[in-house]
Amino acid sequence: MVTILGAKTNKKTKFISIRWKLVSTYLLLVILLLIVINIFITKTITNIYLQEKNIDMLAKTNIIANDIDYSNESRSNSIIYEIIKNEVINYSKEINSRIIILDEEKTVTIDSKEEFEGEKFNHSEVNSALKGKSLSNEYYYKKYGHIMYTSVPLILNGKIEGAVLTSTSIDNIYTRVDDIKKALYLISIISIISIAVISFILANIFSKPIQKFTNAIMNMARGNLNQRVEIKTNDEFKQLANAFNIMSTKLDQVDLQRKDFVANVSHELRTPLSSIKLLSGSLLHQDKVDEEIYKEFLSDIDSEVDRLNNIIDDLLSLVDLDKEKLNLNYKATYINHLLEKIISRLNPLAKEKNITLKYNEFNKIQINLDKNKIQQAIINILHNAIKYTPENGAIDVSLYSKNKDVIIEITDDGIGIPEKDLEHIFERFYRVDKARTRNTGGTGLGLAIANQIVILHQGKIEVKSEINKGTSFYIKLPLNDTIV
Ligand SMILES: Nc1ncnc2c1ncn2[C@@H]1O[C@H](COP(=O)(O)OP(=O)(O)OP(=O)(O)O)[C@@H](O)[C@H]1O
Ligand SMILES: [Mg+2]
Repeated sequence: MVTILGAKTNKKTKFISIRWKLVSTYLLLVILLLIVINIFITKTITNIYLQEKNIDMLAKTNIIANDIDYSNESRSNSIIYEIIKNEVINYSKEINSRIIILDEEKTVTIDSKEEFEGEKFNHSEVNSALKGKSLSNEYYYKKYGHIMYTSVPLILNGKIEGAVLTSTSIDNIYTRVDDIKKALYLISIISIISIAVISFILANIFSKPIQKFTNAIMNMARGNLNQRVEIKTNDEFKQLANAFNIMSTKLDQVDLQRKDFVANVSHELRTPLSSIKLLSGSLLHQDKVDEEIYKEFLSDIDSEVDRLNNIIDDLLSLVDLDKEKLNLNYKATYINHLLEKIISRLNPLAKEKNITLKYNEFNKIQINLDKNKIQQAIINILHNAIKYTPENGAIDVSLYSKNKDVIIEITDDGIGIPEKDLEHIFERFYRVDKARTRNTGGTGLGLAIANQIVILHQGKIEVKSEINKGTSFYIKLPLNDTIV
């Protein structure tokens, strides 16, 4: 089942570059637009020509209807009939149209082409003219092409005596429109080609940054995390490139830290392990060993095992603290009580070096925190103060609130930290003087752990120090949920 699903998702989809998508979208839009414009222009022009022709034919047919003096009586007079017929034929030539005269019964009495005389015409134009209303319509016949019929009533002495119907070819209008259409098609094709070329060039320009990002991301995937994408334009791509560059620098730093961390862990674990190996090896290879020496070596091995244990405990705490959204066990805690407890726990250690651990009576401050974690952070810092203060020194611990923070200040008059090291002391495994700390047995994880704990509580640790004068650590925790 899994493989079938896997096969389905792995199915290769056809790659269509964004360039082609852009070009084809542009072209489709342009072609649609041109089709609409072409239809609109040709329709409008045809209508204008037809209207013009319509007005012209109505005027001409009206003139004929007014000019010929043709009543029922004159129809019966063959001489008058011939004269009028000649007149009609002349007019027909003049206006280049067929002219048909009909009586009130819709019978053709005169046809300039003499074809329909005597026939009945039931055209809507004839009916309309006989009702007194001029009318003009266009028709298309396969045989004759486009034809316009125009009818006008034939009025004599205020009475409708018949109708004049003109029929004229309007094919020339359509040929002119066809010429315009051809010109429009040519312009459209030229526009489509030029837009295709321009949009292809533009799409190329637009898609170039994407290619740059793809290359950079592929390089990252190959393990070269420090990639930079340079974009010259001042647009969203530039913003994306800036964000990308920040991300890749961060990733590179994290990767370096990870490598450093692994190297440091291995180094720190190897040191006690090699001394254990050395000590146990020398015991094994000696035949008769004094019980004294046995005990001495075994106690050395024991303290190295303790050291290993401490390092592993510290590392596990760090791994724990690194876990995303670590669920802190928040509880309302009197921080003054907590401090008193820690001080009394570490007092014996200070006494060993004859260090005075002073603390003023603390104000009662209750705050929501993970008691065990904060205790660990304070112990790490106070332990450092004892560790890095020579014999007969003094350490001051105070607790106060300032602005919106609770501040635990731990000040010693010890060896101090050089300025160049101050920004690094919270890094994992960082020790100011490796040789010096080696004597005190530190691994450089204490402050990293303390810092991580305080950050998880939305607080921060600040430090001020002067060489050979002393160091002050300030643990600042937010006062939001404080009950004083
Ligand atoms: N109060 C202090 N006075 C002088 N130097 C200090 C003080 N606190 C810390 N440092 C310096 O900062 C370094 C880092 O401290 P950190 O507590 O992280 O490591 P560590 O004490 O060496 O080892 P451990 O992991 O056992 O605590 C120390 O090695 C020391 O050089
Ligand atoms: Mg320490």
